[in-house]
Amino acid sequence: MFHVEHFPHSNYGTDFPTSFEAFFGAALINEMKCSTWNTCSIKSPTLSRPCECFFCCYHCTHVITLIARLCFKKLVLYMAQVVALANQKGGVGKTTSSVSIAAQLSLLGFKVLLLDFDPQASATSGVGVEKHPEGSDLYDIFFGKLQLADIIVPCSTPNLMVVPGSHDLVSLELEIGKTPGRELILRTALTDVDKDFDVVIIDCPPSSGLLTLNALGAAHQVLIPLQAEYYSLEGLSGLLKTIAFVQQTFNPKLDILGVFLTMYDARTNLSLQVYQETERHFGEKLLKTKIPRNIKLSECPSHGLPVCSYDPSSAGAKAYLALVGELIERLGLNNTPDAARAA
Ligand SMILES: Nc1ncnc2c1ncn2[C@@H]1O[C@H](COP(=O)(O)OP(=O)(O)O)[C@@H](O)[C@H]1O
Ligand SMILES: [Mg+2]
Repeated sequence: MFHVEHFPHSNYGTDFPTSFEAFFGAALINEMKCSTWNTCSIKSPTLSRPCECFFCCYHCTHVITLIARLCFKKLVLYMAQVVALANQKGGVGKTTSSVSIAAQLSLLGFKVLLLDFDPQASATSGVGVEKHPEGSDLYDIFFGKLQLADIIVPCSTPNLMVVPGSHDLVSLELEIGKTPGRELILRTALTDVDKDFDVVIIDCPPSSGLLTLNALGAAHQVLIPLQAEYYSLEGLSGLLKTIAFVQQTFNPKLDILGVFLTMYDARTNLSLQVYQETERHFGEKLLKTKIPRNIKLSECPSHGLPVCSYDPSSAGAKAYLALVGELIERLGLNNTPDAARAA
């Protein structure tokens, strides 16, 4: 004999997936009643009188529902949001933005994985991590010699973990050749670790090769930094074609999270014109925050610190904080991740 508190269906909260209601039978769950001293008052869907058998009883259904809910939250609701920062053009601020966004999210309490997918490994040094810690290498992931979890390292920013970049990635395209499924190697590798993070940020190389295809294959969202200069939009057509190709072939769920301007100079008409032109092309996808040209953003990598740690009061740090605010809203992330994870 044991006592079970009244636990009506509504107590499960608003995030209880309706598909589970369907799965367990809405009628069954809605008719759960208080059960004191092991008296089962649930009505069986097939019997006219309350069923008292063990499998139909309230306690049993209650436990199953609770376990299902916990599993669902762990596996689906709290799977990391994977965001790839991509632009085939170099020098537009992909790495600066990846590091700044990842670090800012971490400081807000989100668990973040920064994945440096550029052979130049600038994001890695940007957070003060060595390029080849303990000989482990992102390159080996592609040949199944290591798991992603083996090469994740911490950095000085709390909550921020890093997959360091590797120069060896340069030769990857040639070596993997036409191996079937080669575009989905990163997605597969991420499935082992993404439940440990709220967000995964991938810093893409300036190309549309195998590395970028892998990043777009693994990503739920692509975020596009655009330098506020005349030829920026022209260069973007190649990336948009690549995104369309990925959506049509191996990642139909890939979405554009947003486009934002970097190295924006509010004193020039050109920057304003580029903003207006980008808004005309992308509409709602254009993020409101413009990242200004700011010396602290170019200084901080040489100190191995993201700008939010190097100089939190700089215009660059404040702009990335505002951008992250917009991204949190678009990604639907909860502002108090620890509370959300514990719920
Ligand atoms: N907002 C900014 N203000 C000043 N310098 C910037 C800014 N964004 C990027 N930079 C500098 O521009 C250069 C290219 O930026 P980076 O992030 O490496 O571009 P990408 O990764 O697209 O090649 C770097 O030297 C970086 O420090
Ligand atoms: Mg870069």
